[in-house]
Amino acid sequence: MAFKLIYSVVLLLTLWSTAGCDFLVEGVLQMECHDRYFMIAVDLAATGGPRFEAVDETGTYAITEDYAAKCGYSIGVLSLLGLVEFRASYFSCHTEKDDGFSFRFNLITTYDGEDAYYALNKTCSPPLPWSPREVTCEVNYMEVSVRSEIPCPAGFSDNWSTLEPLYSASTQDWQVTFQNLDEQLPPMNLSQARRKGYVFDLAHDRIVFRTPYGQPESYSTEVNGIPVEVVHATVFSRQSWVVIMVDMIAACSMDAGSYHSGYMIWDTPEALYPSLGSTQISLGLNGKLVEQAAAEQKGFIMARYNSTVKIGIPYNAEGGYRKSFVSNGIFEFYIFNLYLKQTSVDERHEETALRFHRTLVTPLLPSSLFTEDQTDVAEGEFTVYLGKVPRDVELTSLQLNGQEFEVPFSNAKTYTLTEFSKENAAMLHKLDINYTLIAIPGNDPYYYTVSVTALMAVSPPSFDASCTVSGIDFKLAYRSFDYLWDISIGSDRLTPALAARRGYTMSNDSHSLLLSVPLFTPGYKYQDITLKDFLGTFTILVRDHDTSEAKTSTIKTCLFNTTELIICSTNGWMTVVADLAVVLQSGEIPTKTHLMNSLCVPKEVDGTRVLFSFPLHSCGSIVKLSKGNVTYQNKIYFVRSENVTEGMTVQCTYPLASLQRLFSIHKFESDKEGFGNIIPFVEPTKAVPTRTTTEMTTTVAPQRTRTPSLHLPSFYPTARYIKVYRVQNQLPYLNKGTKETMQEKRFPRF
Ligand SMILES: *[C@@H]1O[C@H](CO)[C@@H](O)[C@H](O)[C@H]1NC(C)=O
Ligand SMILES: *[C@@H]1O[C@H](CO)[C@@H](O)[C@H](O)[C@H]1NC(C)=O
Ligand SMILES: *[C@@H]1O[C@H](CO)[C@@H](O)[C@H](O)[C@H]1NC(C)=O
Ligand SMILES: *[C@@H]1O[C@H](CO)[C@@H](O)[C@H](O)[C@H]1NC(C)=O
Ligand SMILES: *[C@@H]1O[C@H](CO)[C@@H](O)[C@H](O)[C@H]1NC(C)=O
Ligand SMILES: *[C@@H]1O[C@H](CO)[C@@H](O)[C@H](O)[C@H]1NC(C)=O
Ligand SMILES: *[C@@H]1O[C@H](CO)[C@@H](O)[C@H](O)[C@H]1NC(C)=O
Ligand SMILES: *[C@@H]1O[C@H](CO)[C@@H](O)[C@H](O)[C@H]1NC(C)=O
Ligand SMILES: *[C@@H]1O[C@H](CO)[C@@H](O)[C@H](O)[C@H]1NC(C)=O
Repeated sequence: MAFKLIYSVVLLLTLWSTAGCDFLVEGVLQMECHDRYFMIAVDLAATGGPRFEAVDETGTYAITEDYAAKCGYSIGVLSLLGLVEFRASYFSCHTEKDDGFSFRFNLITTYDGEDAYYALNKTCSPPLPWSPREVTCEVNYMEVSVRSEIPCPAGFSDNWSTLEPLYSASTQDWQVTFQNLDEQLPPMNLSQARRKGYVFDLAHDRIVFRTPYGQPESYSTEVNGIPVEVVHATVFSRQSWVVIMVDMIAACSMDAGSYHSGYMIWDTPEALYPSLGSTQISLGLNGKLVEQAAAEQKGFIMARYNSTVKIGIPYNAEGGYRKSFVSNGIFEFYIFNLYLKQTSVDERHEETALRFHRTLVTPLLPSSLFTEDQTDVAEGEFTVYLGKVPRDVELTSLQLNGQEFEVPFSNAKTYTLTEFSKENAAMLHKLDINYTLIAIPGNDPYYYTVSVTALMAVSPPSFDASCTVSGIDFKLAYRSFDYLWDISIGSDRLTPALAARRGYTMSNDSHSLLLSVPLFTPGYKYQDITLKDFLGTFTILVRDHDTSEAKTSTIKTCLFNTTELIICSTNGWMTVVADLAVVLQSGEIPTKTHLMNSLCVPKEVDGTRVLFSFPLHSCGSIVKLSKGNVTYQNKIYFVRSENVTEGMTVQCTYPLASLQRLFSIHKFESDKEGFGNIIPFVEPTKAVPTRTTTEMTTTVAPQRTRTPSLHLPSFYPTARYIKVYRVQNQLPYLNKGTKETMQEKRFPRF
């Protein structure tokens, strides 16, 4: 029984290409200008947790977590992809904003404790015109920029170009005041605000305001049930009698997302910023925006109700990342870097473009492995497929019925099952598989177990049998499971000891069993006995090992040439073929042969051979009891001269223990065949019966011996019977009231 395991691993797709890399710096995969940010993708493995420094003419600035949130940088470690994604807002602190937006960074990598610096630079020009108001909800900060041209009623002519020198020349003139839900906080100058983490800037004719999340001046609220963080800053400047105020409101949906029916759901209010009618939405993953229709075609859901925009990202959306997690089960989760742009137009037809960068993570979702049992019983092989193995999960080893196997598991390697159990006419093969799976990267094993069974129809073994001159040969070529059965002759299990005791010849090795059963050994049945030939039948039973129930038998009947034989059947018949030549003089033909009761004559005579067949206790048989045996004796007589009668003593001896019934009316039953003897004798004529008789125990010369004194009548007794109990060490006793224990060797006469 061989086990095959087919396991396929889908390689992690390379999600990032190195295309777009316009110069070669080790570990840098990509530098890209996006609509509102500049992005550097760095190989995590090659750079070993890189750091960045922003560079401008005033110096280099290490980008720490706090500094990033304040100055418009975000660093995302996408360990699943082995990437670090670095984003810089076009208005980030150290962008050189004169002619386009120029970025300069130092990428610092560490090898063996040594820092290596790589200078990166790129100039971007935004591919899109700026909206009057733009808001970016980055992962670590909010940024608002507004056109510095003051939207005034007609006739009130001024612009930010006139404001600019004021602003840059005397910043102390510019104040900022924050407003939370219920109060207006005292104003502060811009340096104070900056110290608190807020950045105000003026670039490309835009006023820029940036704030990290969770500032003391921020407030959290709910809009249509969605959590929103708001920082409401108003910058103002009093120039004699003119006060210029600019409202900078940063408001972002803080919905963390939820997972529902295969979709990552993320909500944002329809109208975070004043909107005439509904907002326009485009969205995508990993910084790529597509229009609503195209997104919907990719399976994204966008629904609006109750002034809420609901985004549904299909769990398997292209651009999403999945990761397996092993902890008492295999789980998976998905990560989406959602990028969404929401454009609204207010009553003055001024456009606000709101952009979200959101990292959404699904909860741990149980991952259901399954196995498919494709075992083909006819092939004698287990084939089990393990399916739905996440691509970041590896099969590291497995146990088959507790035995450990390393993988890869080659198909050439076969494992022979030795454990199986048996059911009715079929064998149940059981294979317990214990898969060890590991989510990579990681070491935590997860064991997935499955039991497969195969029910194989099995037939008990059957022997090949062949006739020989002197017996029957049986042969059995073992199959692997043949030990499930016992082989027996009648009720006795075949063992080397039994074979030896009964005179069978047996050879048994792991491949085959050979059994030669000579004629006249126990177990034979004989039929159609004639002087010419007779049929001998030998039966081998195959029994269930557990229940001893006979399942099949091999019965072989052979025709044998008759020479001499004596058969003492279990049902109480003696059949004798005797060759009287031993006691005849050469050329003599026996005439008038008969048994002790002279009315019992041979069934067949052929030259010197005679065939008698008679019930044991008829024809004048003598019954002799000895310790443990009962012997029926009769004689084949033929008269040779007046003075001398010669013949053969024929006798059947049965062990008493095997007798079921003895003389119970007309019936004789023995578990075992009797043991027969043919013994020539010579005795005086007319001495039948006499007290002296010659018996010989060899077939060579007649011998005199005592004549049995008791005879049975030639007809069956009627009234009384004797029951013989199969009690060890206890002789049978007379029944029917006499209760006389039989201690004599001679059987009482009826
Ligand atoms: C920008 O990078 C290129 C290529 O590495 C280099 O030749 C150039 O001098 C850099 N420019 C500045 C201003 O650092
Ligand atoms: C804004 O002011 C500058 C300088 O005073 C002037 O050159 C420019 O024409 C003004 N722009 C508008 C739209 O009035
Ligand atoms: C801002 O205000 C603080 C405290 O009132 C003051 O010490 C500081 O000089 C001011 N800075 C500017 C640039 O006006
Ligand atoms: C709509 O929003 C309001 C306010 O948040 C909320 O009370 C109401 O339950 C929402 N209705 C539905 C149908 O979600
Ligand atoms: C699977 O194998 C592991 C490691 O040998 C063992 O800890 C665990 O009990 C096995 N599981 C079953 C169901 O046998
Ligand atoms: C029986 O005897 C005949 C004649 O002697 C011989 O041809 C035959 O082969 C014998 N058969 C067996 C089964 O011994
Ligand atoms: C034959 O040998 C096998 C062991 O090789 C043993 O299990 C079986 O019992 C033997 N059969 C007999 C009939 O002795
Ligand atoms: C019974 O008869 C058998 C067969 O002749 C013989 O081997 C055995 O010894 C006898 N047993 C007794 C107790 O006489
Ligand atoms: C038979 O016996 C008688 C007397 O006992 C004797 O005379 C006779 O010769 C014997 N016959 C033979 C053939 O031996």
